[in-house]
This record gives sequence, structure tokens and C-alpha cells, in this order.
Amino acid sequence: MGTTIVIGAQWGDEGKGKTVDLLAGKMDLVVRYQGGANAGHTVVLDDSTHILHLLPAGVLSPRCANIIGNGCVVDPGGLISEIDDLERRGVSVQPNRLTVSSQAHVVTPVHKFMDHAFHRHIGTTGRGIGPCYTDKVQRTGIRVETLIGDVFEEAYRKHHEHYRRVAAQFDADEFPDLDTSMGELGDAARQLEPYVGDTARLLHSALERDDSILYEGAQGTLLDVDHGTYPFVTSSNTTIGSAFTGGGVYISFDRRIGIVKAYSTRVGEGPFPTEQQNVIGATLRERGGEFGATTGRPRRCGWIDLVLLRQAQILNGFNYIVLTKLDCLSGFEHVLAAVEYDSEGKPVYKKLEGWEEDITGMTSFDDLPHNCRGYVEFIEEILGVPVGMLSTGPARAHTIWRNDL
Ligand code: IMP
Repeated sequence: MGTTIVIGAQWGDEGKGKTVDLLAGKMDLVVRYQGGANAGHTVVLDDSTHILHLLPAGVLSPRCANIIGNGCVVDPGGLISEIDDLERRGVSVQPNRLTVSSQAHVVTPVHKFMDHAFHRHIGTTGRGIGPCYTDKVQRTGIRVETLIGDVFEEAYRKHHEHYRRVAAQFDADEFPDLDTSMGELGDAARQLEPYVGDTARLLHSALERDDSILYEGAQGTLLDVDHGTYPFVTSSNTTIGSAFTGGGVYISFDRRIGIVKAYSTRVGEGPFPTEQQNVIGATLRERGGEFGATTGRPRRCGWIDLVLLRQAQILNGFNYIVLTKLDCLSGFEHVLAAVEYDSEGKPVYKKLEGWEEDITGMTSFDDLPHNCRGYVEFIEEILGVPVGMLSTGPARAHTIWRNDL
């Protein structure tokens, strides 16, 4: 199947989990290359729902190997719990199926504390992501190789002491206890050690073998630390360039898939031009079950924004779009799509006719109501990219394939 990358084209929560899961069944290897447990990829499989936070979605496909690359940030205890949880449900995630980069950075209990204490105005997930990437960039971080090595205790004491002093200046209480947090990390490290390896080398070998490889992006383009709605962004690059640094090898992607939800959502703070703080937004939230997979927070909802999606297209060079949650738009008299902004920065909408019919579970494009097809074709026309897959419900079977994806 060659090489594929899947990237969220909006503010995350586009429904990447289902797409990645569907494609992973055809892959030899799935790679996470940025972000951490702030992601929440929901996959519905045999009537049970799995929410993966850091594990690549390939863990749910038995023949697939998986990599957590150097660009990711790893919460060791969280990762072990995710593995244990899947093992309890009968999904094997032994070290022969998962390799964690020795160069990935470790999220510590101190990072989570700092996130809660100092980053909540952004509306972060509280998973310690920003503070961990901060330490990485200021060259004070703890990498996985240190976590499992001899000097971990020394490194952790230094890290703990530094942030204890910072927190003390701000009256922040409940700072993690040194011995307890170090003990927890030490326990997780022992369980993680068999999974640790040189992931760039593994990727290089997989490419030489011509394996089918899928890169699984987390969050979304508009949360990119450089290209997103700064400062209301995550702390990693979520756009395509991150695949090279965060995986460690150059790779030419045959399929560059942008995941687009049929409407827009956002969790956390920050600009959202097409947000509908009214009955339309409430209806979308209810129909789409728009509550954060990681935090449970209600998501802000609104119409699709084709101006921002064109920007996402420019940044990532998508050659396919996957359109998700189309079924949630049934029943609106009109469906709106932002096509430009006026001189005050307000969205200008194209008003399209809606459709009444419930399309849940449909598998053929030709069976969709006329106006629904019109909506899909309008998106294709504005973005100049074919829609290769449409999702008409959460299950694997609720899918329409098109354009040879
Ligand atoms: P952080 O990544 O936890 O630092 O959060 C920064 C911003 O990104 C906040 O607005 C979060 O709600 C948002 N965010 C982080 N991860 C995700 C995700 O997987 N889906 C949607 N939003 C996310």
C-alpha cells in the first residue's frame, strides 16, 4: 500500500481514529511522530469503543507493528496503563508489536503539575504536554533513554528541585512528592524498557523493505505551534514537516490525507470564526457527541470553514480528503460553509440546501441524497482535492470509499 500520512485539517477531533484504524488493517507499520497523551483517537471495533491516547492505532490490527517516534512525548505510567488496558481486552501489545524511541521525551508528574498550574488559560488537556516540550527545547528534558538508564534518579532530582523552586514562587500547592513521583516513574520505566529502541533505524529498514507504512498525526493543523492559532495551540508541530523530524527519516508520502469533519469543532480557548453559540452549535454537539475524548469537555461547534481548510491544504499538500461525520448534518434546512472573510474578519457563508434523510451507515455515494452529494462536491471544488472516503457513522462498516483511496 506504499506510504500514507493522515493529518487532522482542523483543530483536532476530526475523527482520525476511525480512518487510521481502517487503513491500519492494510499496513505493516503505524507511526506516531508528534504529540502525546493529549490525543484521543476513538476507534469502534466489534461493538466496543477504544480510546487510544498515545498508542498508535495499528495496535488494534494484529499484523501491524507500531512506533512511537522521537517527536512524541511519553508519559510512562500512562502508556503502561494503556497497554495493560488493551491486554485486558484481549489485544496483545507485546514488545514485538511496539517500539518506543529512546530519544522521545518523558512527561513527568512535575510537567503535569506545571500544565495545570500555569497553562490552563490556553485550555490545555492538562497532560503535561507544553511543559515537557518546553524542557525539550530548553535542553533540560529527560529522554526515554535516561528514564531507563543509570542516571535517572540524579536527573529527576534536579528536574524536581528546579520546578519545586519555580512553583514555590507562585504559591502553587500540591507539588508532586519527590519520592512518590520518582518511584512511580521508576516502576513504569522497568515495564517500558523492553519496548525501547532505535525507531529511526527501524523505519529506515521498513522503507528499504518497501513495507506499507502509515504515519498517524495527532491533534490538527490549526493547533500547530508555528502555523496554528498561536498562542492557542499545542506545543508540537502538527503539520506534515513534523513527520520527518518526529519520525527521524525522510519519507515521500504517496497518500497525504487530510481529515476534515463535515462541520467544525474546537476544545479549549482561541479563535473560532464559524462558531455557532446557538441552537445550531448545540444540535451539532448533541448529534456528533462532541465531548473531548481525553478530557470530556464539551466541544465548541460551528459550520465548516473552507478558508482555514484551504490554508491547511497549502500547509500539508493533501492529495486526498476524508470527510467525517457527514451523518451529523442530516436534518438542517440549510448547511453553511465559510468561503471568505469580510473586511472585519467575519466569515462570509455559502448557503447550501440541506437534506432530511438519515444517511447513517450508507456505503454508496450514489445513494446519498442529492443535496448531501452537492455539499461534498462543493468542498472538493473549493479545496481542489478529491474526497477519498466519507464516514456515515462510527463503525468500520459505516464508510463510503471513493476515488481509489
Ligand atoms: P495541550 O496539547 O494539552 O497543551 O493543549 C493545547 C490546546 O490544544 C488546547 O486547546 C487543547 O484543547 C488542544 N488539544 C490538544 N490535543 C488535542 C486533541 O487531540 N484534540 C483536540 N484538541 C486538542
